[in-house]
Amino acid sequence: MIEDIARVMVSEDALKQKAKELGEQISRDYAGKSIFVVCILKGSFMFCADLMRCITVPVSIDFMCVSSYGAGSRSSGNIQILKDVGVDIRDKDVLIVEDIIDSGNTLKCLKEMLESRAASSVKICTMLNKPSRREVEIDADYIGFDIEDEFVVGYGLDYAEKYRNFPFVGVLKREVYEK
Ligand code: IMP
Ligand code: MG
Repeated sequence: MIEDIARVMVSEDALKQKAKELGEQISRDYAGKSIFVVCILKGSFMFCADLMRCITVPVSIDFMCVSSYGAGSRSSGNIQILKDVGVDIRDKDVLIVEDIIDSGNTLKCLKEMLESRAASSVKICTMLNKPSRREVEIDADYIGFDIEDEFVVGYGLDYAEKYRNFPFVGVLKREVYEK
């Protein structure tokens, strides 16, 4: 397992510190409001848990599980909702919490979908961002780390459902996914 990691890209300490910074910034920006967090499963569960502990305004949470991948490993503009939020988000201040923005296809679709349900606002907080991979225009309101175009795992992120439990974000050795 650990031998599949080429190097640590973001350490456990740096992730904790960033969740704190983002939580403080979000708490300032939403002062006087309450936040409806939509945690995108599965990848963002760990980041979302850390982030929420650093938010000081009232917050509720629900989960969505979406899949934009067909047979290949590239996302498409069409997302499939495997699990939707359980409540009406009309007039709520929605904060989507995502693990990573790659092509942007998933989040663009998701954001438009939630906006179409008459939320009063829809913002995005992502732990990681790969700007060089963007295929559609979508900007996150809160970004943990901009990273290079490398396949990373850990802290919620997986390859073939593995490595989500690692407490850091690490670069997966190419030989693991190219074999
Ligand atoms: P997008 O629609 O291309 O932006 O895809 C975003 C989704 O692809 C993320 O939520 C992840 O599930 C997955 N993904 C993209 N890059 C990585 C990576 O480097 N490691 C693990 N999952 C990734
Ligand atoms: Mg994901």
